[in-house]
Amino acid sequence: MVHRGQILSFVSDPGDGADAASYQHFPEGAMLVEDGRIAALGPAAAILPKLPRDIPVTDHGRNLLLPGFIDNHIHYAQSDVIGAGGRQLLDWLNDYTFVEERRFGDPEHAREVADFFFDELARNGTTSALVFCTVHPESVDAFFGAAARRRLRMIAGKVLMDRNAPKDLCDSPAAADTESRALLERWGGQDRLHYAITPRFAPTSSPAQLQVAARLAQDFPEAFIHSHLAENHAEILWVKELFPAARSYLDVYDGYGLLRERAIYAHCIYLDEADRRRMAASGAAAAFCPTSNLYLGSGLFDLAVSDAAGLPFSVATDVGGGSSFNMLRTLDEARKVARLQGEDLSPLRAFYLATLGAARCLRLDGQIGTLEPHSEADFIVLDLEATPLIARRTAAAQSLSDTLRILMTLGDDRAIKATYILGRQVHGVPAAAGMSRSA
Ligand code: GUN
Ligand code: ZN
Repeated sequence: MVHRGQILSFVSDPGDGADAASYQHFPEGAMLVEDGRIAALGPAAAILPKLPRDIPVTDHGRNLLLPGFIDNHIHYAQSDVIGAGGRQLLDWLNDYTFVEERRFGDPEHAREVADFFFDELARNGTTSALVFCTVHPESVDAFFGAAARRRLRMIAGKVLMDRNAPKDLCDSPAAADTESRALLERWGGQDRLHYAITPRFAPTSSPAQLQVAARLAQDFPEAFIHSHLAENHAEILWVKELFPAARSYLDVYDGYGLLRERAIYAHCIYLDEADRRRMAASGAAAAFCPTSNLYLGSGLFDLAVSDAAGLPFSVATDVGGGSSFNMLRTLDEARKVARLQGEDLSPLRAFYLATLGAARCLRLDGQIGTLEPHSEADFIVLDLEATPLIARRTAAAQSLSDTLRILMTLGDDRAIKATYILGRQVHGVPAAAGMSRSA
């Protein structure tokens, strides 16, 4: 199948957007998809004449084809927590989130929410994600079972928490070990799935349980590590009380060997210079969750100091502390967080962070995050006429940056015209395929 349209894919971080070598943009592009992978990409006038005359072509007009969005921090079991009472983190966890997560010991409930979650991701153009399940192994089986049926590239794991939470939501160091190992062996590396060792955050894991996480990380070097870090003032004071010997919150995780490539820490608002440098040197990355940080009043992630320390980050939704599944809405809030600190987030960089930038944090670039030949064909089509206002504003756009800024300022799920997984359309009105390939 060939897809025609306006095509954008990143090569490197565009920074302020001035570096035209950081992306490939074909205003009248064509992309050949074969066996679920991108086979060729370029201007339609160069690609089409080389192909057999009878090859089916889907024409997306002037709509914008992009790699699918990648969300590096989201809780599927909090799909029904979005918009709960807007307290700060610790009250929000106790009053709403833990209450909801209890329901995921029921496999039937977990399956129902997992299906809703994946439908919602598809509607919002998110094709891969790094996902918190709950403490229940049933929640992980339900998640990966649904992801496997949809052939998604997904990363997730069982939450480890053995203290400072309701008793019926706590496991133990021994259960954390046995259950994680069984799940790692069942799901890790199956088709497009990856396992993440997932201690919830330092306050809800005993030292003995963090030791278990450390051993799991050693025994499964290919596994991801996923947790929360330095999100909220009360949380940070609590970590100081619980781990008085640690130099910082980050140092707790570091002390247990939980910093390395493929380790992703959500929030990272209140780090110091030494923390940022240590995190960067370890290969770990941050997930900046603007809608969550604003909804829960947690604080402002500092993009410029992260850049100065060489700490890589991507932009993530953190549903259900976050208030939207939609990456366009999330990028817009990220730009506002930058603005509040006298910084900027260029539109090109915003879209990079939601695609290739996120894939790089996961060390999955080469597989997802670009439309380069050999990449997996997970891509989306953004509708430049999704609303009368978007149509009017994009028609007047003078540049690619203008178009992207308008999409992230005004766009939401209505702008996601279609979502494709391994070349197969999973969301949107099926586009008519013709065979006319006259450029
Ligand atoms: N810290 C520990 N658990 C959570 C959670 O579920 N959401 C957020 N935003 N922060 C956390
Ligand atoms: Zn979270």
